[in-house]
Amino acid sequence: MNPNPKAQRTDSQKAENDEILRKILCAIGDVPRSVYSPSDDTFLILDALAKTPVEGKKVLDVGTGSGILGLFCAARGAHVTATDVNELCLQTVQKAARALGLSIRAISSDLFSNVRERFNVIIFNPPYLPSLTVEDRSVDGGPDGMALSKRFLRNLADHLERDGTALLLVSSLNDSASLFSAEIPQFQYEVTTKRSLFFEELQVLNVRFRDDLAR
Ligand SMILES: C[S@@+](CC[C@H](N)C(=O)[O-])C[C@H]1O[C@@H](n2cnc3c(N)ncnc32)[C@H](O)[C@@H]1O
Repeated sequence: MNPNPKAQRTDSQKAENDEILRKILCAIGDVPRSVYSPSDDTFLILDALAKTPVEGKKVLDVGTGSGILGLFCAARGAHVTATDVNELCLQTVQKAARALGLSIRAISSDLFSNVRERFNVIIFNPPYLPSLTVEDRSVDGGPDGMALSKRFLRNLADHLERDGTALLLVSSLNDSASLFSAEIPQFQYEVTTKRSLFFEELQVLNVRFRDDLAR
């Protein structure tokens, strides 16, 4: 047993989150072929979410895929809206939410197009693979891999509470430094979690309004 009370709390929180995740993965089960299965990028965002207070907060899970990120937040007491352009993703998240006794609002929306309100936490694991054409909307991110991320950041200010946080996944396959200087002068960001894989490094960025703009 760990004699340090803070470490004990961290251990028990981790065990609780692992149990929540196990139940969510069971409820999601096998997903249809066109629905993105939870992968390394998904699990890296989950690591970042585990450190983010969401209880009682309004959370928007953009491009929900299997719904795992939104379900994780809902299980921790958040009010979750999940969006996707793939109707099968919306059905998958709603089915899993019912099985878990959770409530999630699932909306068909091209990024924020059908979303009106502001949120405390916004999550986006975008399709980021550089691709000449977009054949698979789960993974293809256009020629520089950042088409969706750029559009997300351009519209983020209209949907994030002034003291809110957005978690955005970026890859070393993309030139994410240029993304930030060009797209979001009103935001600051920091790397909250990262992982090196065989052919890329993934990072989750914590994006917030600049201190002088946040109220
Ligand atoms: C990399 S997957 C991430 C899925 C899930 N959030 C996860 O982390 O496992 C990207 C998701 O974005 C969705 N997507 C693609 N283009 C979109 C758009 N314009 N608006 C909303 N969602 C979109 C895809 O259908 C897919 O479910």
